Amino acid sequence: MYKSLERARAMVAWSLSTLLLLSVSAAHAEKFAGIGRKATTNEIAAWDIDVRPDFQGLPRGSGSVAQGEKIWVAKCASCHGEFAESPSVFPPLVGGTTKADIERGRVAGLSAASENSKTTIMKLATVSTLFDYIRRAMPFDAPKSLKVDEVYAVTAFILNLADLVPADYVLNEKNIAEVQRRLPNRDGNTIAHGMLDLRGKLDVSGKDCMRDCPVDTNAMLLLPSTVNGLNGNLADQNRPYGSIRGIETRRNP
Ligand code: HEC
Repeated sequence: MYKSLERARAMVAWSLSTLLLLSVSAAHAEKFAGIGRKATTNEIAAWDIDVRPDFQGLPRGSGSVAQGEKIWVAKCASCHGEFAESPSVFPPLVGGTTKADIERGRVAGLSAASENSKTTIMKLATVSTLFDYIRRAMPFDAPKSLKVDEVYAVTAFILNLADLVPADYVLNEKNIAEVQRRLPNRDGNTIAHGMLDLRGKLDVSGKDCMRDCPVDTNAMLLLPSTVNGLNGNLADQNRPYGSIRGIETRRNP
């Protein structure tokens, strides 16, 4: 009973503060009316291309190792080497993994001291990342220029170089999960470190006051009034909420 009351109170406080925030930002938006426009559905679709580890967002398509090899030679090899082995523009994409790694799901070579020895395929824990990264960022000089089937093909080629799929493999949105189960470092991700324990426990704790907070009356920054009007009104140029606000700097406030 007590707990649900507390929760109800918290909800009310939360919705009030959200309302406040919305109305403040609506006022702010009004001030800048006529600037910008709503993104179109096509624009959002062009940005919304992330592929998640569970393959949510993966577009349908397919590409063979052989097709991938052609694309690789034409569009990737100049920077990454014929066999994705070149260290010239980036650490090699492929190499450094063994059959034992594929069985185990952890790459033994990652414990080696030399940074140069760590290739992409050694570190990769989710094959979705490889697909997603190539689709959004490669080739370096023409990102997003590959068609979906071309991304499948060139990904298949890299996977073949890493001995994860045979030379006659055709990668598609269904069998990509098979590859995930063979990825040499698939169990290499850990959550036992860093800021966020993904089981829901934060290892940071905030001490900011959330209600009835004392007002800080110490002046932290004062601008001489002679600068007023020189660069417009800082209060209009900053968000009207949050901890960073602009002070009034109109010429005659
Ligand atoms: C003009 C040079 C160039 C070309 C061509 C190029 N890449 Fe890259 N590639 C890079 C660079 C540089 C990086 C690192 C970029 C960064 O970290 O911001 C990179 C990174 C990558 C990575 C990520 C590696 C990692 O461990 O983070 C992959 C995968 C990749 N490239 C695949 C490809 C594929 C596939 C093609 C062809 C379709 C291609 N690249 C063409 C220069 C190139």
